[in-house]
Amino acid sequence: MKKILVIGACGQIGSELTPALRKIYGNNNVVAADCLYPLKGELVDSGPSCKIDATQIEDIATTVKQYNIDTIYNLAAILSAKAEANPMLGWEVGVGAVLNCLEVAREFHCQLFTPSSIGAFGTGTPPDNTPQDTIQRPKTIYGVTKVTGELLSDYYFKRFGVDTRSVRYPGLISNITLPGGGTTDYAVDIYYSAIRNGKFTCPLRQGTFMDMMYMPDALRAAIDIMEADSTKLIHRNSFNVTAMSFDPEMIATEIKKHIPNFTMDYQIDELRQGIADSWPNSMDDSCARAEWDWKPDYDLVSMTEDMITVLREKLL
Ligand code: NAD
Ligand code: SER
Repeated sequence: MKKILVIGACGQIGSELTPALRKIYGNNNVVAADCLYPLKGELVDSGPSCKIDATQIEDIATTVKQYNIDTIYNLAAILSAKAEANPMLGWEVGVGAVLNCLEVAREFHCQLFTPSSIGAFGTGTPPDNTPQDTIQRPKTIYGVTKVTGELLSDYYFKRFGVDTRSVRYPGLISNITLPGGGTTDYAVDIYYSAIRNGKFTCPLRQGTFMDMMYMPDALRAAIDIMEADSTKLIHRNSFNVTAMSFDPEMIATEIKKHIPNFTMDYQIDELRQGIADSWPNSMDDSCARAEWDWKPDYDLVSMTEDMITVLREKLL
């Protein structure tokens, strides 16, 4: 049985990945850690938890030793829009945490997952059907940290044999924990606003297409790639994965099928718009499909149906 450490367990992904891992590998075999401490709710009630500041290598090493950890999910990061407001912090967490986790993984022979992002692409990247291996010149500090993380992770695999694996997540849509300050957050906010107020002011322009994914698929991607047969992996850091691509009009149209009086207007956030314009419209994830059988379950229609059902129950 694996002994897993999740760093960044309180975030949008960690708050759902930790319980999902505990369900598979056993409650006591999954340690939830975050710099926000004490952790709350299910994360504490259903298994071990501790404080880790991932920019401090000793914090990680001590926990790995204490719990005999052999697998690390490093989810600590400052998301794209938030990192533009504080690039130093974006770099310290985005790269500091990866390097610290890599060093600990090397010393204690751990497998390591650190997600990358559509934010790893930028100027010169083909925007449509973006290939797995292509130009990566991001215009955000977030993207710079993601490319650095990919390179460092591949370096540690090739140089030291550390079993590093990663996916380039698109925007993630979920209904447990709100997103942490990214450019794709609008695609979560729109559902909350639709249910609460029947209307939404969109910060991105009509026609802004980005890749997206529903959280259950994102969790499965994180778990499946770590379980994948290593002999079949040609790539490692990091695989394009996607489930759907839409613009604000398409998601609004889908929501209107459930909430006919829903309305949307626009107030463009130029920072987020500039970031979104530099990211792919749609990625080619055929390498993930071929090398470890990646296949999403949800599309825009089925995700919207589920989001609205769950949020009606949660918010009304
Ligand atoms: P989030 O912002 O919701 O959560 C990040 C968590 O990390 C937070 O709980 C925060 O407290 C914690 N954290 C921050 N600094 C830390 C530190 N120094 N030490 C320990 N913990 C720290 O982010 P998320 O959406 O859950 O993203 C997790 C990972 O997935 C990140 O690498 C992110 O770049 C990547 N990703 C997310 C998305 C998305 O849409 N959510 C898309 C692409 C990639
Ligand atoms: N959801 C993330 C962001 O917008 C993508 O990595 O920052």
